[in-house]
Amino acid sequence: QAGLLYFGAATDTPGQRERAPYPQSYAQYDAILADPDEFGQTTPTNGQKWLFTEPSPGVFNFTQGDYVAERVADGGKKKLLRCHAAVWHNQLAPWVMMDGNATVTWTKESLAEAVQRHVSGVVGYYKGKCYAWDVVNEALDEDGTYRRSLFYEVLGEEYLKLAFGAAAEADPAAKLYYNDYGIERPGSNKTAGVKRLVRMLKDAGLRVDGIGMQAHLHADNHPSKDDLLQTMKGYAELVDEVAFTELDVRIRLPVDETKLAMQKECYQKVVAACVETEKCVGITVWDFYDPFSWVPDVFPGYGASLLWFEDFSKHPAYDGMVETFKSL
Ligand code: G3I
Repeated sequence: QAGLLYFGAATDTPGQRERAPYPQSYAQYDAILADPDEFGQTTPTNGQKWLFTEPSPGVFNFTQGDYVAERVADGGKKKLLRCHAAVWHNQLAPWVMMDGNATVTWTKESLAEAVQRHVSGVVGYYKGKCYAWDVVNEALDEDGTYRRSLFYEVLGEEYLKLAFGAAAEADPAAKLYYNDYGIERPGSNKTAGVKRLVRMLKDAGLRVDGIGMQAHLHADNHPSKDDLLQTMKGYAELVDEVAFTELDVRIRLPVDETKLAMQKECYQKVVAACVETEKCVGITVWDFYDPFSWVPDVFPGYGASLLWFEDFSKHPAYDGMVETFKSL
């Protein structure tokens, strides 16, 4: 096992980040993203999701995903690409959804075929380009039972098997991950649910290479380093690798020094725990520039969760992580 392979940042297509404060910020933003001394890996935050990649049945479009996939060559030193997310209940194309917009009524057979075609089509298109794929994202509820998504309601856990099977066939070299949030603490029902889910897939003869902890964390109530180490130890018994796939640490606004110090500690704990875990291959921040974060949209009153403020000055967490890397 290689140990830590990358520290990276997710990014989006320019059309998706119109919340940016001024157009010239794009140039500054792009320069940071491209700098191989900052990030050695990237993930498209949105562009490979079903909504964009298969907007009509069997009609694929990779424009959004390709924009980010091409960023791996920026800056002259190739970054790793993590690919995200082949099957997710969110950001589905309207034709898939069962919410009244649906143009089809799904049966077991027709949905199984759609999942298979989608995973084969998308993972197949990116074959050879993805270090890893989040094959299924967020299949569990907070209590660790299966989320009652369209996929689960129609197919039961069969959809997970179909997705992992199709992904393995479409790109034998990509590491196949199960990815979820709220699974960073060792004793939780959801963490137990992840282990159950992965064991179920492996018992069915399917390849699961990794578990992705999204790690959307809170500055003032975050897991301890020990929690993180213990959680990863449990996952490492089942899979070859683990990763922090969508790290951000939100703050209740307004920002002050105390909160930024707590945030810094949290980022440092993640770095230390990952470096000390042999199977932890990498850390990805879910974008790096505060104005492009999803957090304020979903949690009003929270923000400043990333590493660069709106004026492009750096959070204390940035230097904090550099120190931690150097000390280990
Ligand atoms: O497409 C429009 C764009 O035209 C417009 O300019 C922009 C203005 O705000 O909105 C755009 O759509 C938004 C899109 O992000 C791009 O910013 C959607 O309304 C918004 O719902 C969408 O949110 C994304 C979210 O997933 C959807 O659930 C976030 O960017 C993305 O960061 C987030 O990522 C998820 C992971 O995939 C899975 N784990 C949780 C994580 C955070 O929610």
